[in-house]
Amino acid sequence: MKSGLSPYSTYTPEELTRDQAIQELAYLEKQIRYHNERYHRDDAPEISDAAFDALMHRNTTIEKLFPDCVRADSPSIKVGAPISDIFTKAAHLEPMLSLDNAFCAEDLQTFITRIQRFLNTDTSYDCVVEAKYDGLSVALRYEQGVLVRGTTRGDGRVGENVTPNVRTINTIPHTLRTATPPPVIEIRGEVFMNRHDFIELNTRRTAATEPVFANPRNAAAGSLRQLDERITASRPLTFVAYSWVEPEKNTTTSTQRALLDQLQTWGFPICPLTRVCHTKEAIMRRYAEMGEKRADLPFEIDGLVVKINNLDIQRRLGSVGRSPRWAIAIKFPAEQGITRITAITIQVGRTGVLTPVATLEPIGIGGVVVQRASLHNADEIARKNLFVGARVIVQRAGDVIPQVVGLSQSSDTHKHPDSPVFQMPHECPVCQSPIHKDPQKVAYRCTGGLRCGAQRLGRFIHFISKGGFNIDGFGERHVKDFIDRSLIATPADIFTLRSQQTATLTPLAHLPGWGVTSAQNLFAAIDDARHVPFNRFIYALGIPSVGERTAKLLAQRYETPEYLAELFDQLITSETAHRAAEDLMSIDGIGEAVCGDVRTFWAEPSNKKLFQDLCTHVTVKPHTQISHTTELAGKTIVFTGTLKHHTRAEAKTIAERMGLTVGSSVSTQTHFVVVGEAPGSKAKKAHELGITISEDAWLALIRTHDS
Ligand code: IVH
Repeated sequence: MKSGLSPYSTYTPEELTRDQAIQELAYLEKQIRYHNERYHRDDAPEISDAAFDALMHRNTTIEKLFPDCVRADSPSIKVGAPISDIFTKAAHLEPMLSLDNAFCAEDLQTFITRIQRFLNTDTSYDCVVEAKYDGLSVALRYEQGVLVRGTTRGDGRVGENVTPNVRTINTIPHTLRTATPPPVIEIRGEVFMNRHDFIELNTRRTAATEPVFANPRNAAAGSLRQLDERITASRPLTFVAYSWVEPEKNTTTSTQRALLDQLQTWGFPICPLTRVCHTKEAIMRRYAEMGEKRADLPFEIDGLVVKINNLDIQRRLGSVGRSPRWAIAIKFPAEQGITRITAITIQVGRTGVLTPVATLEPIGIGGVVVQRASLHNADEIARKNLFVGARVIVQRAGDVIPQVVGLSQSSDTHKHPDSPVFQMPHECPVCQSPIHKDPQKVAYRCTGGLRCGAQRLGRFIHFISKGGFNIDGFGERHVKDFIDRSLIATPADIFTLRSQQTATLTPLAHLPGWGVTSAQNLFAAIDDARHVPFNRFIYALGIPSVGERTAKLLAQRYETPEYLAELFDQLITSETAHRAAEDLMSIDGIGEAVCGDVRTFWAEPSNKKLFQDLCTHVTVKPHTQISHTTELAGKTIVFTGTLKHHTRAEAKTIAERMGLTVGSSVSTQTHFVVVGEAPGSKAKKAHELGITISEDAWLALIRTHDS
């Protein structure tokens, strides 16, 4: 959506005439609907939560001033976004509501007064103050204590069925920890990602040249809403429970505090920061205290949720429109600031991808001085209308890398007609090699390979990283130093450092910054690293989309560097390329992207040479299948349709434990296809080949072969 402003955006609600208010409400409805969909449906918000809240706030303020102009489709009545159609749908037992927002003590007072007026009392009720987790809400249905369904909020009434996905989250119990579970109960809470898990996930994604998530919330939503729950299983999601809905109302608790404790007894994590407050002042003190602590918490919170503690009072208060009367969110101000872009430079990564980076006038945000921010790519710059000299809103969103949210709304953001439009360069700013635009991705790449200083440095850093050779005491500083002194040119040179030393008569121990002990220690660490597991060897090569997971898959399938090199050779030889690609892509989890990247990698002679050189300097520990060799070992199995007894992830683990290879597509190479409920086209093909087995037959196989 063009972020065009309405003609009245500079008017305060009080300044609007009735006609203008009608137009402004129509404009706000459109804006809010659009941003709601980006956030809830697409997991790709374009504006900050604070900016969204400001739109909502303006909408409600105008509605209060012109109550007869409230639209039937007003955002204050609707909840969430229309649900997408990629998941099956499931209705909630009761609507999943949203919360009204407060931003200050006065808003909190309004909330309290409204309650007292509604109940015609001047009693001041105790409140439970919880953290407002920045994740996505889910409803978990338990029947006789067993988890039977997990649903996202969706439009509040009907959500998306994400049962296999929630089952992979290990803080969500599959059965309630009690001998007397309620017959049916829907537990509600938030799925989220801890900050350090989020940063690690993004680091892994960067290493595998996959796009990074903007913040932990997006990472959580994007990870939960996956059609393949194995992807969800590989993401570090967690959960916190805060309420339930129980149709038969067997569980007798009288306060929110007791409800949380009951949830904990049943085995759910609950928020450890919850407090019961007796007065408005105590709530505001807690708000101030948590505002201070917020940046140091292991997870992101965007405010506090204040709930009336007494559940009977909650019931009496009920809800209005989209929100309960008995709860309110007090939001924290976003960690944002406004500054100016002073330059846009280009950074070249390990795989040659060019990333534009903004240099900013230094600004303090949330206790940290921010002076650089990634602008991701050229499309992003164009979409946000960014240019050198622009005043921009910058925010820190959990990630260490700050983001440029967009132009600030103040009047001097208009681009001077003479200031140049940003363009990606035609040659690499580091090595001057030509730039290639990747037609599939939005990426521009330097074609210099290891000849490019930036790529070389990136490749070295990747090579020695934790997932790669992981050489103790050998970090980025050493790499830079050794490259500068021409001691190393490719990662394989690390292993000849010691012998090279005597040959060139420059013993490391005599160079500035090095002593005999430190040099000896380094050589010892390098020697230790000479024995390397095959998967880490593959990862360290730095093939663009081959991250740790793919490297493991390759190591499992091809077992030794010789076999892998043979496959790579076949991939770039026209007569054998097709068969080799088929072989490679029959591995579950490997597709066109990896295949293409491996080809490009191997076609570059310096890469093949690195592989061969490494093989002469290191001993690769062949990948050993941890399998109980049965007659099934080495056979290929494919699963299709929904299995009743296992998630796909679990079935795959069991199959692999039995020595089977799990394929993603059915071919003449497949030995069995397990057909679950509602199977797809794979079942048809399997029938034609006569290789289908039922889920029961699969369970029988497990019983006889899996120990
Ligand atoms: S109570 C009707 N408690 O905030 C009560 N919600 O803006 C609604 N949230 O959809 C839920 N932490 O995703 C509640 N401690 C907490 C929460 C919480 C985060 C989220 C939840 C909800 C949204 C409302």
